[in-house]
Amino acid sequence: MDFYDVIKNRRSYRFYEPKMPEQETIERIIDAARLAPTWANFQGVEYIIVQEPDNVSRIWKAIGQKNKFESAPMFVVGIISPSDSGKNMNDEQYYGVDFGICFEHLILAATAEGLGTCWIGWFNEEKIKEILKIPQKYKVLGLTPLGYPKKEKGAVKDRKSLDNLIHKEKF
Ligand SMILES: Cc1cc2nc3c(=O)[nH]c(=O)nc-3n(C[C@H](O)[C@H](O)[C@H](O)COP(=O)(O)O)c2cc1C
Repeated sequence: MDFYDVIKNRRSYRFYEPKMPEQETIERIIDAARLAPTWANFQGVEYIIVQEPDNVSRIWKAIGQKNKFESAPMFVVGIISPSDSGKNMNDEQYYGVDFGICFEHLILAATAEGLGTCWIGWFNEEKIKEILKIPQKYKVLGLTPLGYPKKEKGAVKDRKSLDNLIHKEKF
């Protein structure tokens, strides 16, 4: 898929077919995240592939957004230790930025593969860490179901116009 078609066709999918994506496809998607730029090339973002049905249903419970989603065959859970990123000149931590870049690479690669995702940021982090035995130093910053969408949504709409976003020379 052309790059701009991928951008336009990435949507948040909340209803999935039960079919499991191929392992090779999953690896290609995570490889796209691996190639993302990070703070001083620290590459701190790691990925947990969750496919065991019992773990998948426990993750749904930890997300707790009932009635909004229908079960997906698997999840990718993204984690990063703040110590594996840096701070900017204003002493602000950058690990969230590293995470966002890597996870969006993953999400766009999934779109290019014809798979659906939904970036989920609202979940019980401690429960997810307990289920997946994630060491304390890591932050779980996002996770996504991965699978074939039940129904394609079509291209992105509902966005502000460029006129509302661009400032020329000065604010
Ligand atoms: C950082 C982030 C966190 C999100 N968290 C959730 C979430 O917890 N639950 C959910 O249903 N959607 C979540 N979304 C999806 C957004 O609601 C969605 O991207 C937005 O409404 C635009 O729709 P679209 O992705 O189909 O273009 C999240 C998206 C982002 C980028």
